[in-house]
Amino acid sequence: MDLPFPPIADETLPAVVMPSCPIDRKLKGQKALVTGASSGIGRGIAIGLGHAGADVVVNYVKDAGEAEAIVEAVKSCGDNQAYAHRADVSNEDDVRAMFEKMIAEFGTIDILVNNAGVQKDAPFEQMTLEQWNTVIGINLTGQFLCSREAVREFKRRGVRPEISCAAGKIICISSVHDIIPWAGHVNYAASKGGVSLMMKSIAQEVAPYRIRVNSICPGAIRTPINVSAWSTPEAYTELMKLVPYKRIGEVEDIARAAIWLASDDSDYVTGHNLYIDGGMTLYPGFETGG
Ligand code: BGC
Repeated sequence: MDLPFPPIADETLPAVVMPSCPIDRKLKGQKALVTGASSGIGRGIAIGLGHAGADVVVNYVKDAGEAEAIVEAVKSCGDNQAYAHRADVSNEDDVRAMFEKMIAEFGTIDILVNNAGVQKDAPFEQMTLEQWNTVIGINLTGQFLCSREAVREFKRRGVRPEISCAAGKIICISSVHDIIPWAGHVNYAASKGGVSLMMKSIAQEVAPYRIRVNSICPGAIRTPINVSAWSTPEAYTELMKLVPYKRIGEVEDIARAAIWLASDDSDYVTGHNLYIDGGMTLYPGFETGG
């Protein structure tokens, strides 16, 4: 099949360009924390929330220089405040300290984006306990620790109607692999499957406090985590067999949805998995078979 979109064989990641339609500053006055925000999807979401008017804490674990660049990008969106904070989300003390600092600096938190995530891939019988524990620790336990701190603050503070209808919003960045099994990535798929029921269970428990909890489940998004899947024409052509919409996703596709989930436009949405995947979850093998 000839595709209307040429394969992308450029290893250079594009700049984060926010949508051509103007984003209004509907998150003005809201305080957001984005974990793992120094690259990839987290970077796009941090800048996107900045465009929408939020003040943003840019969490990172390794790349201080990149995190500072994101801080500058957020600040240049308007009169937003932003700062970078180093914390390992799988470490309880780090997470506590990150929230204490945020509440001291910004006064509170309105939006938590649980984005930090890693892959440590291996054939199942060769997967080490360390690979398993690292992925579960960051991708699942990290989301638990950050969500718990956020819920404590949301409940303490309650709703401020002039800021938002909700007392707080949590957005978990999951994956299509919360439902698509993934050979060679058992730890990753298990972590994302866990995020799904963790997210729904938290959502059910905290809904009466007007706290909304949802997940975004990205498919193949052009970021460093999956560079081998899109950086050569051959790999890109293979990847497109899994994507009915026949283009790779960009971080802006995810950032736009994160802005929506963080805003009052989605006020009646909670406990939801939003797949942003160009149809990857539509059983693409059945395009022609069956
Ligand atoms: C993974 C990517 C992968 C995508 C689709 C994501 O959750 O992190 O490496 O390309 O799922 O398979």
